[in-house]
Amino acid sequence: MAEPQLHETQLARWPIRFGPDYRETVSLRGGQRAQLTMLGREHAGRIVRGYAHLSRESRYMRFMSLRDELTGPQLLHLTDTDGVRHLALGAGVQIGGACHEAGVGRFVQLADRPDTVEAAVTVVDAFQRIGLGGLLIQRLFDAARERGYRDMSAEILSDNRAMLGLLAKIGRPIRLERDGTVTVARIRLQ
Ligand SMILES: CC(C)(COP(=O)(O)OP(=O)(O)OC[C@H]1O[C@@H](n2cnc3c(N)ncnc32)[C@H](O)[C@@H]1OP(=O)(O)O)[C@@H](O)C(=O)NCCC(=O)NCCS
Repeated sequence: MAEPQLHETQLARWPIRFGPDYRETVSLRGGQRAQLTMLGREHAGRIVRGYAHLSRESRYMRFMSLRDELTGPQLLHLTDTDGVRHLALGAGVQIGGACHEAGVGRFVQLADRPDTVEAAVTVVDAFQRIGLGGLLIQRLFDAARERGYRDMSAEILSDNRAMLGLLAKIGRPIRLERDGTVTVARIRLQ
């Protein structure tokens, strides 16, 4: 399948909203504020710190494994972003003088469907249920549309009530295909 022409058209229009300097402060339920920024190779430490604060259940729901630490290859992949085919947004919450890693939203272009990105959102347990996951997925929609992608998909464990509940509330056409323990969600972007 050919690369969608739209990507080139969009990229010719830099600067765009979700460029390398993207920075946004969002307000969460309960009054906390999170800073959203792009994540890249230099942010391996942020990814490791965030992972360390995920519960076992959240790790399993996101990575479908229960490792105590990310492997080297996983960390390389998670930080190997180019802002177009692989984009990651990190959310940090300032508490006192310290910045706490609160969540990551990312998408990766599918090799066999170049008009589609596969997305995943992770929110550290201490910051769940205050709207951050919903905000991250909305920003991923906007960034994917900005790059000309047509569809977004997500592979979700079928018993992941939180992610399925989040997607049920996004207000976009969504198709769920359940195949045993995994459900694939397909969301039209354009
Ligand atoms: C799924 C996840 C990203 C949701 O993040 P979040 O910041 O807690 O989500 P939000 O606060 O934006 O919640 C939005 C809606 O999702 C639904 N939801 C979120 N958590 C839920 C839960 N535990 N049970 C049921 N519904 C839930 C609710 O409808 C919620 O709206 P409400 O709080 O007004 O009722 C988070 O639970 C998480 O990181 N889980 C572990 C990793 C994971 O499963 N990632 C998905 C891999 S594809």
